[in-house]
Formats: sequence, structure tokens, C-alpha cells
Amino acid sequence: MKVSIVTLAVLVAQSFAEDDGSWANIVSIGQRPYYLVDEMKPSSVRDKLDECAKTKTSYARTDFSIGHRGACMQFPEHTLESYKAAALQGAGVIECDVTFTKDRELVCRHSQCDLHTTTDIVLHSDLNANCTTPWSAGVEPMCCTSDFTLEQIKTLCGKMDSSGINATTPEEYVYGGTPDWRTDLYQYGCPTIVTHKESIELIQSYGGKFTPELKGASVEMPYEGDFTQEAYAQKMIDEYVEMGIDPKDVWPQSFNSSDVFYWIQNTDFGDQAVMLDETEYDNETQFLEFFDLLVENGVKIIGPYLSQLVEQDDSTELGMKASAYSEAAVEHGFQMIAWSLERSGPGLEGWYWSSLENMTRTDGDQLALLYFLTQEIGNVIAVFSDWPATTTFFGNCYEVGLRDSSSSSTSSGGEDASENDSSETTTTTDTTTTPSPSSPAGSRRHLQAASQMINFALKLVGI
Ligand SMILES: *[C@@H]1O[C@H](CO)[C@@H](O)[C@H](O)[C@H]1NC(C)=O
Ligand SMILES: *[C@@H]1O[C@H](CO)[C@@H](O)[C@H](O)[C@H]1NC(C)=O
Ligand SMILES: *[C@@H]1O[C@H](CO)[C@@H](O)[C@H](O)[C@H]1NC(C)=O
Ligand SMILES: *[C@@H]1O[C@H](CO)[C@@H](O)[C@H](O)[C@H]1NC(C)=O
Ligand SMILES: *[C@@H]1O[C@H](CO)[C@@H](O)[C@H](O)[C@H]1NC(C)=O
Ligand SMILES: *[C@@H]1O[C@H](CO)[C@@H](O)[C@H](O)[C@H]1NC(C)=O
Repeated sequence: MKVSIVTLAVLVAQSFAEDDGSWANIVSIGQRPYYLVDEMKPSSVRDKLDECAKTKTSYARTDFSIGHRGACMQFPEHTLESYKAAALQGAGVIECDVTFTKDRELVCRHSQCDLHTTTDIVLHSDLNANCTTPWSAGVEPMCCTSDFTLEQIKTLCGKMDSSGINATTPEEYVYGGTPDWRTDLYQYGCPTIVTHKESIELIQSYGGKFTPELKGASVEMPYEGDFTQEAYAQKMIDEYVEMGIDPKDVWPQSFNSSDVFYWIQNTDFGDQAVMLDETEYDNETQFLEFFDLLVENGVKIIGPYLSQLVEQDDSTELGMKASAYSEAAVEHGFQMIAWSLERSGPGLEGWYWSSLENMTRTDGDQLALLYFLTQEIGNVIAVFSDWPATTTFFGNCYEVGLRDSSSSSTSSGGEDASENDSSETTTTTDTTTTPSPSSPAGSRRHLQAASQMINFALKLVGI
């Protein structure tokens, strides 16, 4: 007993001592994955995850886990705080939805026209007045990033995506409507709106990779006559080039095949371009034709929604079978990135679960679905999650998307990159590789903490 406590303390102390003081090395999955395992219906998958939950004491960042708008179940979407939360939950990849401002700067917002539900803009009476449709009692507003300059947008605070129904004051409109299973808890300190460029810097410093989605414009394109769709698609890529990001660390996505084909034909970032697909097909012929078109144009990754991939099958252990769509996708050799877990709320109602609507569901079925997507269907390389701790937990237990030094594109990158200490520090996240160089002060702090911990453990066991 004494020996094991001391051993544990030494192990914990060692992991502190090896930490280089960078956020990139911190992964914390919190309580929720354990709760979801407990909620699972009996199955061999539950047994395995339960065993993993009980025995695994540290988790690594995994590229299987994508922070959907950050960690937007609880943090205001597309804010610095939401991205940081996603990174801390072990998301290997973090999403910025990309749209543009009046002065053509790229910012992270889910849509060009959602400032009224995702920020406090309606409280700024001068800015509200310049929204496409300003808020006033009884009027549904519409405030677009293209209504404002970046400087103006930077004065806003992010908030949970919601709005008060029948609000009579701006405050009721802005701060009403968050579902009770999300929370307003993390929106009080003015969550920070970020530009696309800032998101790249931040996500890189957290050890994350990138999946920017070029959002369709809500204004007529070309914007102001000369900002074409192609210029917009190119600008998004240019910002990665400017920041020296390896294309292997970027999965650019769009629902518009013109954007995806553009990246493939005109940039170095086409290899991992993701063709998002939200179509509800009437029959197989339709998606087979679409798949053929994608193959002809060099698309390798598609992004279907969850319910497109599975159907109910009571004769199987998990109650699921592959849909004709996912079988055809595998036959066409596509990799798939599916969206979005942890978005539907307790009970898993709604569109994302519509193909399993007649299955008796528990919240734990989210983990069963991840098993099915990765181990039964295969080819599903990553899943977006509003709470990436859930996908991180699964990725660790089934060893999906974990990074290792041999496959790390950042360490095998160009000569310049390997010479660059700061880029090494911010992009190396594999906990099993040699720690990156760190500040002497940081190491001292960790060593101090480590020796305090050993002393404490020794006192505990009376040595
Ligand atoms: C609102 O728009 C008007 C007309 O374009 C402009 O003169 C004014 O400066 C704008 N106000 C703000 C706060 O941007
Ligand atoms: C909002 O107003 C409409 C129309 O007056 C009414 O039918 C509805 O019940 C109201 N909703 C809430 C939540 O008060
Ligand atoms: C896709 O983008 C092209 C231009 O690149 C545009 O003409 C077309 O309308 C867009 N399609 C959709 C569905 O937005
Ligand atoms: C499939 O659906 C499309 C669109 O509804 C229709 O035009 C086509 O005829 C259908 N094909 C078959 C084989 O049913
Ligand atoms: C679920 O059951 C209802 C009623 O029988 C049926 O109409 C619906 O198509 C079923 N949904 C699925 C996805 O099978
Ligand atoms: C090294 O990284 C820094 C910070 O990311 C960057 O400004 C600089 O251009 C990089 N240098 C090289 C040679 O890649």
C-alpha cells in the first residue's frame, strides 16, 4: 500500500516535471464522458469503455476529436474561450467557421448574419441601428458581419447562440433563450470574438490543427462588385500560407462544391479539402452521381451528418447498421468526417438522430455511435463535437486519431520548420515524445511542485 502511493506520487510528479508549461500538453476530459459511459445500454462496447474509464488516468490529444465551433455546448461559439475549452478537452482539430466583414477581413462566425444571436450587438444601440434589420420590440433582427468593420465587431462580446422570444428589451433579447442543458455560465466576462488569423495563432498555440469552413455569403457575390467567391476562398487559404501552416494540418471545408474544387485545382490545400454534405437524398442514384462527380474532381474526404450514416437494426448488438450512403461512400474510397455529436441535447432528439428515431435511445448511445462509425463502418476519421471531451475520450479508448512522432506532419515538415523552436513548441502535442524546450523558470516551478508532491505523499504514508 505504502509503496503504491509513493509510486503514484512519483509518477504524477514526473508528469509535472515533463510538462513544458505550454497549453499544448494539457488534456482534461472532465466528468461528462464518465457519465455517458454509465448511461450506455449493456453491450461489449460499454464494457470496454467502462474498463477504459476506470483504468486510464491520462488522455492525449486526438485528431479524431474536432471542436465544433470550439466547445459550444457550454462556451459561446467561435470565441477564444470556446477554442481554449476545446483544446483543453483534447480536441486535435478545432473549427473556425469563416465569413467576412464590411472591410473584407475574415472572422470566425457560424454565419455571415448571426451577430444578433451570437453576440451582444443589440445592446450597442449605435451598431444595432446599422444592422441589416435592427432589433426593436416585435421585430426579428438581422445583423451581419458585412454590416460592420472588423474594428466595430471587435467591440462585441460573444454569447451563447440564442435569443429571447417576444423580448421587450434588448437585454431580454440578447440573454434569453439558452436551452437549460447548455449554460450561460461562461458568457459573463465578454467572450472574445476572433479573426480567422487570430484563430490560427490561438489554435496552434494550444496544439490544435485546423478545419476552417468557408461559409456561403449572405450578401451578393462578388461583394461590392469585385470580391469574388474565388477571391474569398483563396483569402482563407492565404492566411494559412502567411502563418506558415503545413497543409497537412488543415482540413478546409465547404458545402459548396465550387469552393472545394477551387482549392483542389488552385491551392496546396486541396488534398484534405472536405466536401460537406447536408443533402437529404430521395434515392441512391442521387448520391451515387454526386460521389462520382466528387471522385472525378479529386475529392477524398466527405462530411456527412450523423443520421446519414446509420440506420436502425434491432438484430445487432448496438441496434445500428450502416446506411446505403455510408456503404457507397466506403466503396468510393472516401474518408469521412461526420457532424455533429453533443449537439442534440438530452434524449438525442432531432435531425442528427432522425434515422435512429425509433430506437430506444440513451445519451450513452453517442459513444455507441462513435464505435459504430469508426469500427463497423470504418473510414470515419474524425467527428465534430459540441463537447469534444466526449470524442477525445472515445478516441483514446479505441486509439483513433492519436498522434505519434512518426506520423506527425509538423515534425516531418520542411527544414525551416524543424529549425524553428517556437513552431515546434506550439505544434508538438504528443505526450509520449520528448518534451519541447521550455523556459527554465517554468521547469523550476514544475520541479518544485513535483518535490512538494513527493514530500506530501511521504508524509501521508508516514515515512
Ligand atoms: C451607420 O451607417 C451610417 C451610414 O452608412 C454611417 O454614417 C454611420 O457612421 C454608421 N454608424 C456606425 C456606428 O457605424
Ligand atoms: C410570443 O408571442 C406570440 C404572439 O403574440 C405568442 O403566441 C407566444 O405564445 C409568445 N411566446 C412566448 C414564449 O411568450
Ligand atoms: C457556390 O459557389 C458558386 C461560386 O463559386 C456560386 O455560383 C454558387 O451559387 C454557390 N452555390 C451555392 C449553393 O451557394
Ligand atoms: C431519384 O430522385 C431524383 C430526384 O427526386 C429523381 O429525379 C430520379 O428520377 C430518382 N431516380 C430514381 C432511380 O428513382
Ligand atoms: C419510425 O416509425 C414511424 C412510425 O412507424 C415511421 O413513420 C418512421 O418512418 C420511422 N422512422 C424511421 C427512421 O424508420
Ligand atoms: C518561426 O515561428 C515564428 C512564430 O510562429 C514565425 O514568426 C517565424 O516566421 C518562423 N520562422 C520560420 C523560419 O519558419
